[in-house]
Amino acid sequence: MMKRNRYFALLAILVIFQQVTTATAALKVAFYNNTACQNVEKTVRAEVQKRFQSDPSIAAQLLRIYFHDCFADGQCDASLLIKKNKNPSTLKPEILASTNLGIRGLDFIDFLKQQVVAACVGQANIVSCADIIALAARDAVALTAPNRRPYAIATGRLDGKVSNAANAETLPGSRQRIPDIISRFAKAGFSAQETLILSGAHTIGQSRCKFFDDRLYNWRGTRAPDPTLNTTTLAFLRKTCTNSVASKESRVFLDQNTSSSFVSDKSYFSMLTQHKGVLESDQKLLTDPSTKGFVKPLADGTEANFMNKFETAMKKLGNLGSTTVVGSKGDIRKVCSVLN
Ligand code: HEM
Repeated sequence: MMKRNRYFALLAILVIFQQVTTATAALKVAFYNNTACQNVEKTVRAEVQKRFQSDPSIAAQLLRIYFHDCFADGQCDASLLIKKNKNPSTLKPEILASTNLGIRGLDFIDFLKQQVVAACVGQANIVSCADIIALAARDAVALTAPNRRPYAIATGRLDGKVSNAANAETLPGSRQRIPDIISRFAKAGFSAQETLILSGAHTIGQSRCKFFDDRLYNWRGTRAPDPTLNTTTLAFLRKTCTNSVASKESRVFLDQNTSSSFVSDKSYFSMLTQHKGVLESDQKLLTDPSTKGFVKPLADGTEANFMNKFETAMKKLGNLGSTTVVGSKGDIRKVCSVLN
């Protein structure tokens, strides 16, 4: 009897130990090294590179997916990809939030998962979709930044089991006041300077006209353009954004320096100093008291200065939720857009 009791006590300790280690498992660099998926980073990089060659806009699409997934519910858990919830099945998923309607590239994450599974001798339950997003976004930065090697990122994220559109509705909007944007980022643990640095992601990527066309035609109800917008940029943007209903869905580059619209560089900040920012929320970073002191130094600094800061902020973004989506709250989804 004593022996049996001791056996159960030992078993209980083992179970508790296992739960504690799972619940505190931290992300780490090369997490998959001793698994059947040790080539995951190579596989993701090769596929992102291949797609980038035929479609360079994929880089911006991946960055935005990473931001929206991590930021909506404060967890990089691939909840953005879920098309339908299970529990409760009626809960509207993040992807249907108004802030996510223009998000592009989600099918590519499903495709990357398939390639990763193939490279993991068919095992679908090793690499999380959240890690695939993080790796792909990291590779997108390296591919678009001249002379930068892919920076090391920690992996080991789990996929979430629920996705709630209400969380994504709080993602920042282009017509929001900067103090509101800064306080939303502060809630996630980012300073005003880090918010500015992360906005530097807009050095690649595009926006549809509907997010800024008031600046071109009817600023604050005046029926005139935003007087702070550079007049050459105004004329250029008006060619694509003609103020017709159809043109509201047309896209322009967020970095109006046409030689670097697909390049991750400090050009975004130079554009702001020249009043060539496209979104109101971008241009206002030049004048808002919380960020104005940082814009010119970034524009005047070296490329490496911006990129080092950007990569650090991107890593911090990728750690959101790494201590909350753990154990039974997390999963490794077999198909990224479908709950197991
Ligand atoms: C600071 C507040 C931010 C606001 C108000 C904002 C707003 C927007 C808007 C309105 C668009 C155009 C969307 C469309 O046409 O569908 C956009 C695009 C984009 N955003 Fe942001 N954004 C912010 C921060 C960020 C951050 C922190 C990142 C990444 C770290 C990011 C990455 C991107 C990228 C890469 C695109 C281009 C997407 C594409 O070409 O498909 N944004 N953003």
